[in-house]
Formats: sequence, C-alpha cells, structure tokens
Amino acid sequence: MPIDAPKGRSVVNIGDLRRRAYRRLPAPAYHYLDGGADDERTLARNMAAFEDVRLLPRILRPIASVDTATTLFGKTVAAPLMLSPTGLTRLFHRAAEPAVARAAAAAGLPYSLSTMGTTSMETIAAIGDNPKIFQLYIFRDRGLTEDLLTRAKASGFDAICLTVDTAIAGNRERDHRTGMTIPPKFGARSFFQFAARPRWSLPTAWDQLRGRGFRLPNVEGRVDALKNEALSLIGYVNSQFDPDLTWDDFAWLREHWTGTLIIKGLLAPDDCIRAVEMGADAIMISNHGGRQLDDVPAPVEMLPKIRDAIGGQAELIVDGGIRRGSDIFKALALGADACSVGRPYLYGLAADGERGVAKALHILTSEFARTMALAGARTVSGIDGGYLVGMDKR
Ligand code: LAC
Repeated sequence: MPIDAPKGRSVVNIGDLRRRAYRRLPAPAYHYLDGGADDERTLARNMAAFEDVRLLPRILRPIASVDTATTLFGKTVAAPLMLSPTGLTRLFHRAAEPAVARAAAAAGLPYSLSTMGTTSMETIAAIGDNPKIFQLYIFRDRGLTEDLLTRAKASGFDAICLTVDTAIAGNRERDHRTGMTIPPKFGARSFFQFAARPRWSLPTAWDQLRGRGFRLPNVEGRVDALKNEALSLIGYVNSQFDPDLTWDDFAWLREHWTGTLIIKGLLAPDDCIRAVEMGADAIMISNHGGRQLDDVPAPVEMLPKIRDAIGGQAELIVDGGIRRGSDIFKALALGADACSVGRPYLYGLAADGERGVAKALHILTSEFARTMALAGARTVSGIDGGYLVGMDKR
C-alpha cells in the first residue's frame, strides 16, 4: 500500500474486518482467534505462500458472465469456498454459530460446525439448505463419538469431517499470556482486559449471570470438564481429546458413517494416498491455521504434490492463509477443488455479527469473481495451471 493510502472506517477487505475485530474483542478472545502456535512462522507462511504464486492473465476471452458456481460434496455451491469448523465461536460474538450458518446459507456456501462449537448440531442443521458438515474431534470417551455420529445423521448433516492434527493442543503462547479460558473468567487478573471492551464484556457477563453463557452443547452431558471450572483451551484439549488416535479409528469411522467423509489436517502426500485408499471422499490440506505444529509448510505449498499423488480420486480443499479471492483462484489453478476459511469469517463475526460474516463472504467471493474476469477464466472448471507462471505447477 502507498504510504499516503486513504484511511477510513469503511470495510473493503478482510484486513479491515480484522482491525475491527481487534477493536471489539477483549484480548483473550482476539488473540485466541488471531494467534498461532510457538513463533507463528507457519501462521505467517500460510498467507505468504500465496504471494509466491504469480497469475498469468489470458486476454480477449469472454468474461461478461463469469460463473463462480461449482460442485462440492455432490452439491452445487455458489463458489469454491467453504467455512472451516472453528471452536468456541461464541467467544467472538454472542450471535455465535447460528449467525455464521445463516450467512453461509445466504451466500450458498458450505458451513462446518466444530465439535467444540458453542451451538448444538440440531440447531445448526435446521438453518438453510447449504451443505452442512459436522467436524469431529475424538474424545477419550469413545461412546461420545458414536453419539455424535447418530445425532449428525438424525439431524441431516451432509458430511463428517475428522480433524486429525489435534491429538494434543499446540503451544498457543498468546493464550498463555492473556490467560484465555473457557468460559471467559471475569476476575481480578482479567478485569482490565474485559473493561477495555465493554461492548463485548457487558452482554457476555450479563448472559453468564443469567445462565445463558458459554456452553459446549455437543459434548456436555458426557464431558464434565467445564462444569466446575474455567479451563484453558490447551488444558481442555489435553485432558479430553484422545491422543492415541490412529488409522484404525479412521477405518472405524468410514465403516460407521456412510455419507461424505472428509479428513482434515493432512500435509504429507503419502498420508493423503492412504486416506483415499481407506475411503476418504475429500481431504482438507491443513495445518490448523498454524495453531498446532509450527514450521510446517503452508497447505498451498503441498497442494501440487498431493494432487499428483491422488489424481482425481478425492476432492482437495486448501485450508489456511486465504485472505483474498485471488488466493482461491491460485489454489484452484494449482489443483484444489475448493478453499476453506476460518479466521476471515470470524473477524467478520467479531466486527459485526451476522452482517460481518456476510461481508467477509461477499468480499472473498466478489474478489474471486473479479480475479476470474481479469485473468480471463469464465468458469471454475476452466481454472488451471495455464493461469500461473513460474511455479511448481502441475
Ligand atoms: C482450535 C481448536 C479448538 O484451534 O480447533 O482452537
């Protein structure tokens, strides 16, 4: 940006929503959203990797009617973009997951609800007719997994997404420093953090006083951990998630879930081959937004090798680092079927509730359509390596 770039309050890109989120959220919530693990090198790399991909526009092609629609999980969607599962969404706005799901439905994009979501899967399943995915964490209490699958099927979820990169929690140092807990703990230590953001803190404290505060309704009843104490996210994950998850569990899941099965958190081409051989319908290439193991490659860097390894046997979704519609275009040109975003829509949610999510989705999809037009691609299926230059393209 030029040094004299105009400043103002208008929101024109995802970075603007991020700044608004920063101004709205108390430090523990903002840094839980925005932060990554350890030195946050992977968090930064996820975005920087897109800068290394150069577009090669093709001229004088008809682009008056650019069509961003595509199919994903067997359904038509408005653009090759989905909303990643995100834990503890109510921390960012009390309208929480239902606001996100409604905005996704209105935009015609798939929405994924996290096991660590603050809204029940039945509530989410009833919103809109866009594809709905339930993201599964496997807890030490294995009966819980069967319960969750039964509920996902009964309430009509289209797909299950098993996240496999979170056997234990990553080292989120910002959370250590802010003292982030679930539910938020209003105490002497955090007083100033919350007092600095009254528009968030007053309604949140009020909700908590009325017993309508922070809950994890998909696991409560079976997992008592939150009943008596506030826990750090890291403490919760390490005490509840099963650290001994293996391929046998994936095989078990494939047997018990007959619908679309997505596996999330793969980076190694060999693992992707194995997942496909074992029946994965889609793979989310992901490093959990740089929140787990630091110093791993960006998903988009691994994409060409993974596409070569599995061919057309499964859908490939790039999850991580997307902040512009042009990033979606680049990922597709490198062989992805779609991209997935977490932080961008959460910045929108924190900034302005459902309207903010709608804004984030509009920004990304309209940037994607404009990139298609300027690059000379009228349809999503027409986006290929011919639109790139100088990369290790396919
Ligand atoms: C996180 C987990 C909950 O990244 O997915 O915070």
